[in-house]
Amino acid sequence: MADTHVVILAAGKGTRMKSAAPKVLHPAGGLQLIEHVLRTADSISPRTTVVVVGHLSDHVKTGLEKRPGLRFALQEPQLGTGHALLQAEPYLTGQSGTVVLLSGDVPLLRPETLRQLVVTHQHCGAAATVLTARVKGPHEYGRIVREDGRIAAIVEHKDATPAQRAIDEINSGVYAFALEPLFAALKSIGSANAQGEYYLPDLVAIYRGQGRGVETVLLEDSREILGVNSRKELAEVSAILKTSKNDELMASGVSIVDPATAWIGPDVTIGPDTVIHPNVYLEGRTRIGSNCEIHAGVRIIDSTLDDGAVINNYCVISESHVKSGARIGPFAHIRPQSVVGEDAHVGNFTELKKTMLGRGSKANHLSYLGDTTIGQNVNIGAGTITCNYDGVRKQQTVIEDGAFIGSDTQLIAPVTVHKDAYVGTGTTIREDVPSGALAVSAGKQRNIAGWVEKKKQKKG
Ligand code: UD1
Ligand code: CA
Repeated sequence: MADTHVVILAAGKGTRMKSAAPKVLHPAGGLQLIEHVLRTADSISPRTTVVVVGHLSDHVKTGLEKRPGLRFALQEPQLGTGHALLQAEPYLTGQSGTVVLLSGDVPLLRPETLRQLVVTHQHCGAAATVLTARVKGPHEYGRIVREDGRIAAIVEHKDATPAQRAIDEINSGVYAFALEPLFAALKSIGSANAQGEYYLPDLVAIYRGQGRGVETVLLEDSREILGVNSRKELAEVSAILKTSKNDELMASGVSIVDPATAWIGPDVTIGPDTVIHPNVYLEGRTRIGSNCEIHAGVRIIDSTLDDGAVINNYCVISESHVKSGARIGPFAHIRPQSVVGEDAHVGNFTELKKTMLGRGSKANHLSYLGDTTIGQNVNIGAGTITCNYDGVRKQQTVIEDGAFIGSDTQLIAPVTVHKDAYVGTGTTIREDVPSGALAVSAGKQRNIAGWVEKKKQKKG
């Protein structure tokens, strides 16, 4: 949107979180609180985005390192919201347009609402436009005091008279301001109030006294401006984010058996006719195709599942690619940089790390396969272990197409089992196995006749 700047307040202490970490970095709905706010801010393509930091400012800055282009204004000490916005002045001098003020702990505000606020503000040519909402029941918000229907002032709950406390229209804490008169006016705010703070909402009465235009935009769904002040509110906000993501997915053709326990991050995509069972966590940049089945207790992070993949109960999959028709689990662990090929199977208590399992290959029971490239139609027997670490370096194992690895085999890397070779049960493979060969390493079996009977006699 034309000529906008965003300032996000994130300097407050967040005392009620009882946390060593800054409040705005706590996650809800798969993102840090402030990341939700930044995404909403991004939707109006601001020229400048300033985050006002104070309490644990270094933590907040570090937490936002991956976001280029942010400006940080330090507020020290924290003397109130009016004082907080004032700290952004150096980044906005010489600029023009609209300043949008957001709070780092109000994560549910929708981009549409923000756009509506800015459009109304710019259309009216107001000095300030306040986003308001109607709420029921007791609350601590600032009240919107109107005279002849127009906003005259905002009175904080702690400063309000009983009559003012009865007002159900409240200040959301989100505003649009014309930049030109803003900072001079902020400097005229005083702190003679119940909290001894410089209240940003006092700007409304100041502007009205100067004869400047102040407008309001009333929110339809007051839940959008829910702020997080405690762990309980964090959980409430998480639940709202979860529900809206799940509703969106179900509307697009995904089945979610128990939406209350499906935790799906904002950037996850899922194709139609995929079924998500209870207690599933899908995180990060996970992409799931259509006709997949994700059974109960599965966690998938930053991974891709092609169409028709089936993940049985209690698997963890991270940073990996599961191709179409593959079946995994129950109880499998697919660690980063692994690929499970088309129609391949990974069974219970099997771990893959940096391993490629080719099309139609199977590792069905109790195996560790690390730094391994496995071709097509390979059978990995129960209890196969790739010994990929020699104490200094990780080494590669290669198992070519059609090979058969007998149960309880150890492959001491670096080593290659060539095409169509066989490895006998209980073999320790230290050297390459040529194509078509059988490798065995166990000694010949001896049976000692009558041994049991003799042992019994000794005991007696
Ligand atoms: C504020 C508004 C209130 C509104 C409510 C909506 C004021 C005085 N009151 O109250 O009218 O109804 O939001 O949620 O503005 N912050 C700083 N520096 C400070 C103080 C606060 O950065 O010195 C930040 C906080 O970290 C927070 C935001 O500003 O992100 C709001 O501050 P908070 O103290 O929570 O204000 P409320 O009492 O909720
Ligand atoms: Ca608050």
